[in-house]
Amino acid sequence: MSDPGIPSSKLPLATRAPGKCILFGEHAVVHGKPEVVLAIDLHTQVALRGATEHRLNGSAEAARSNAYLVEGLRRLHPDGPPLDVTVTSRLPRAAGLGSSAAFTSALSAGLWALRGGVSRAELAASSFEVERGAQGVGSPGDTTATVGGGYLSINAGTGPAAWTVRDGDREWAVRRLPDPQWVWVVGYTGIPRNTGETVRAVGRRLDQSDGPALLDRFQSVALEGVDALREERREAVGRLLDQNQALLREVGVSHPRVEALLAAAAPGCDGGKLTGAGAGGSVVVLPKPGHELEVARRIARAGGVPYIVKPAPLGVQLVEHLGVR
Ligand code: PMV
Repeated sequence: MSDPGIPSSKLPLATRAPGKCILFGEHAVVHGKPEVVLAIDLHTQVALRGATEHRLNGSAEAARSNAYLVEGLRRLHPDGPPLDVTVTSRLPRAAGLGSSAAFTSALSAGLWALRGGVSRAELAASSFEVERGAQGVGSPGDTTATVGGGYLSINAGTGPAAWTVRDGDREWAVRRLPDPQWVWVVGYTGIPRNTGETVRAVGRRLDQSDGPALLDRFQSVALEGVDALREERREAVGRLLDQNQALLREVGVSHPRVEALLAAAAPGCDGGKLTGAGAGGSVVVLPKPGHELEVARRIARAGGVPYIVKPAPLGVQLVEHLGVR
């Protein structure tokens, strides 16, 4: 495992993690199928300082009620001194763009730095445990992206894995994919959603008799997506994004606002889909080269909040010299 991990550090410190979008395979990944995730250049920064009691953005009450912070402190800082945790983020919350995973991995990286440092593989496993502990359900897909950076496949391909995350008898093998140097556009519908509820609803849908066949179709699209990305076949990637969206519609997690943003963006795109849990949240589209701004405008005119995004090649990092006092 060649990725440098998080070194040892002392208070005060700061960490920075990218957001993420899911290109293929959300929901199916919870059931062990392949997924492709992309870390995006909308970052979350977490600063940790000493304090007299745990605080989150200045509030002791917020520190007690934020499930991700409570779980992170319980697992990684059980006997440590009180911390003042300050979060700043460019990511909209509950939008499917990885705000929880970015916060979780940035917090976990900071707490591990105080414990003497950690490898990236261990940090990926640990961030997943914190996020799962707080959320109750889910896969390591989101924390994989925010810890790993760049394009990553999960449960796809052969050859050595960068790392493997285990949970009981499930395991998810993570591999790096090359960056085809494309620009993406994501668009937030403005409708927040609850990942846990959506995952449970899809689980019930997949318990029906055609569930296994549906999961196989998710798998084929994601595996073809991995090949098309590797070979930089842009139009094929676009077509597969559309096919993945059709499957997500079929399992009931699309939303009229998602469909409206996708329809508005379509004339300037090679393809697109919802990204994340769905039922609101965000879309990700692959604009035709040179049409990024036009697509962003189309999404804005349809009532969405557009972000033109590039891959964030680095996962969560310890940030020194940020002027943290
Ligand atoms: O919308 P998000 O960022 O919470 O993404 C959820 C992705 C799911 O596959 C639906 C759940 C998971 O944990 O993988």
